[in-house]
Amino acid sequence: MSAVLQARALAKRFGGGRSLPFAPPRRAIHALRGVDLDLVASETLGIVGESGCGKSTLARLLAGLDSPSEGSVRAADGGDGRGGAVQYVFQDPAASLNPRLTVGRAIEAPLRHRLGLPAGERQRRLPELMDAVGLGPDALERYPHEFSGGQAQRIAIARALAAEPRTLVLDEPVSALDVSIQAQVLKLLRGLQDERGLAYVFITHDLSVVEAIADRIAVMYFGRVVEESPARAIFAAPRHPYTRLLLDSAPVPGRRLAGSRADAGELPDPANPPPGCAFASRCPRVQADCRERQPDLDAAGGGAHRAACFHPLA
Ligand SMILES: Nc1ncnc2c1ncn2[C@@H]1O[C@H](COP(=O)(O)OP(=O)(O)OP(=O)(O)O)[C@@H](O)[C@H]1O
Ligand SMILES: [Mg+2]
Repeated sequence: MSAVLQARALAKRFGGGRSLPFAPPRRAIHALRGVDLDLVASETLGIVGESGCGKSTLARLLAGLDSPSEGSVRAADGGDGRGGAVQYVFQDPAASLNPRLTVGRAIEAPLRHRLGLPAGERQRRLPELMDAVGLGPDALERYPHEFSGGQAQRIAIARALAAEPRTLVLDEPVSALDVSIQAQVLKLLRGLQDERGLAYVFITHDLSVVEAIADRIAVMYFGRVVEESPARAIFAAPRHPYTRLLLDSAPVPGRRLAGSRADAGELPDPANPPPGCAFASRCPRVQADCRERQPDLDAAGGGAHRAACFHPLA
């Protein structure tokens, strides 16, 4: 199957440089430190990892909302994610919709500017897009604040679909919603994927959500992917000690990952990443080599289950 989205050696640094010509240089934050991803049509890649590990930074680069410091993104249309083939859906739908535009206006914009459709064709497509996300055509005349969180997220999804993307990057798309509404939105996303062959990059803190929706999972730690595999294999037999810690710290379905800044006390300084494995200072299996060199994301026996660890769990 052909790739709809490919990322190679993506790195992103924030800041750095000088505030004034003679001021000492400020140190850059290394938010993303070399990420490779491949996504094919109809596939969902779940991305998990604690707060600050770089998930949203990665998402923004994949969707072309920000440019990488190093590396490249290649979308299905051959472009870098800005061309509309990759669309981003935010956690907070209300904040991502312009409060002064009716829903119809908001959704019409990509039809006009991305696809260049004439007015008649745009008017025909608007109710179809509403229907695709389970809303009636009357929603088009209303304003974002008139909708519940779940409905607003449906509208944000409709707007993303308007650009006819091949990939949706969904950044915590159901985290702000009640559990019963979460289930409805996840069901909608699954249906849309089946109908349209969409690929999803699905970022979440919630292991039960990622277990329900992902075909493959990438676990991130401190700006890198430390483990990647078919979803079932990660839950059944994690190989990276960090993944083990994540799973152990969220034993109850629906419970969130240990992701608060409070347990991030032992994270390395993002302005000064260590030369070796970033997890070494927290790792129960740490050895001398872990502090010297950074392990690559390798497969045991060349399989689909890869871990960036010199001493992985069996
Ligand atoms: N615009 C920015 N300027 C400076 N630093 C940033 C910026 N955006 C992100 N960072 C830093 O980059 C790192 C990764 O942030 P990012 O938002 O990608 O994490 P995340 O995994 O999405 O976290 P969360 O789960 O809390 O959403 C953090 O150290 C963050 O403080
Ligand atoms: Mg984030």
